[in-house]
Amino acid sequence: MIKQAVVASGLKPGLAVVLVGEDPASQVYVGAKGRKAEELGFHSVQHTLSAATSEADVLALVRALNADPAIHGILVQLPLPGHINAAAVLETIDPAKDVDGFHPINVGRLAIGEPERALISCTPAGCLLLIKRAVGRPLAGLDALVIGRSNIVGKPMAQLLLQESCTVTIAHSKSRDLAALARRADILVAAVGRPEMVRGDWVKEGAVVIDVGMNRIPAPERGAGKTRLVGDVAYTEASLRASAITPVPGGVGPMTIAMLMANTLTAACRAAG
Ligand code: GUN
Repeated sequence: MIKQAVVASGLKPGLAVVLVGEDPASQVYVGAKGRKAEELGFHSVQHTLSAATSEADVLALVRALNADPAIHGILVQLPLPGHINAAAVLETIDPAKDVDGFHPINVGRLAIGEPERALISCTPAGCLLLIKRAVGRPLAGLDALVIGRSNIVGKPMAQLLLQESCTVTIAHSKSRDLAALARRADILVAAVGRPEMVRGDWVKEGAVVIDVGMNRIPAPERGAGKTRLVGDVAYTEASLRASAITPVPGGVGPMTIAMLMANTLTAACRAAG
C-alpha cells in the first residue's frame, strides 16, 4: 500500500547507504535497509568501501551524494574504522539528507524543541511510536527512565520523551540504585548493551518496557560455539509485570528500519517543496 502511494505521488525517494569495512553485523543491517527501500519502490543505492578507505575518500563520497538530486537520504553505517573521524563524516552530510538524524543541526533542532524541522534519529523515533501506541493517551506527566546515554539512542530518546512532557531520568553506568529508579518508571527504555540486566522485579506493574539491547551471548544448549541474541531486559520475567514490552529480536529493530524509510520519504517531500 505504501509502495502504491509512493509510486502514485510521482516521487521517487532516494536512499544511499554507505558501508565502510566488513563488520558482519553492519552488513546485515545495511542489507535489510536497502531491501526495505527497494520493496517500497524507493531508489536505493549501496556504497561498500574497503576498511582501508581513507577519510578523504569517504568525505568525497558524502559530498557527491549531497550534490546528487536523486538522493534524498544518506546513511553512513556506524561504527566506522578507527582511522576515520566519524564526527567529521556525519557533519559533512547535508542536514536535509541526514536520515539518521545524527548531524548536530538535527540534534540541536530536537534539543530546542523543534522536532518538526528536524530529521530524528530512527531508533528513538520508532521507540516513541511504540510507547505512544502502547500508552494510548498523552504521555504528559508520566515517569520515564532511559537507561543508556548514547548519542544514537539514549540522549535523543530522552529528548523525545521530554518533548512529550514526561518526567525523564537518564541513567547510565555510574547511576546508583538503578533498580529503584526503574521501579518508579511508567515508561522504561533500556539501551545499555548489558544482556538481561533489567530484571522482572525492577519493572513497575503496568509499565511500558522498550528493549533496545542487542546482545549476543553464548548458547551452549544450541551446540558448541553457538550464540543467541538477547536484549537488555529479562523478557520472560519482565513481561509478567509490564503492560507492553518489546521482544528481542523483532521489536525495536524493524521499527528502526520503518523510521528510516519514513525519514527518507520526509526528506524527499521537503526537497520537492
Ligand atoms: N549502527 C548502529 N545503529 C545505527 C544507526 O541507527 N545508524 C547508523 N548509521 N549506524 C548504526
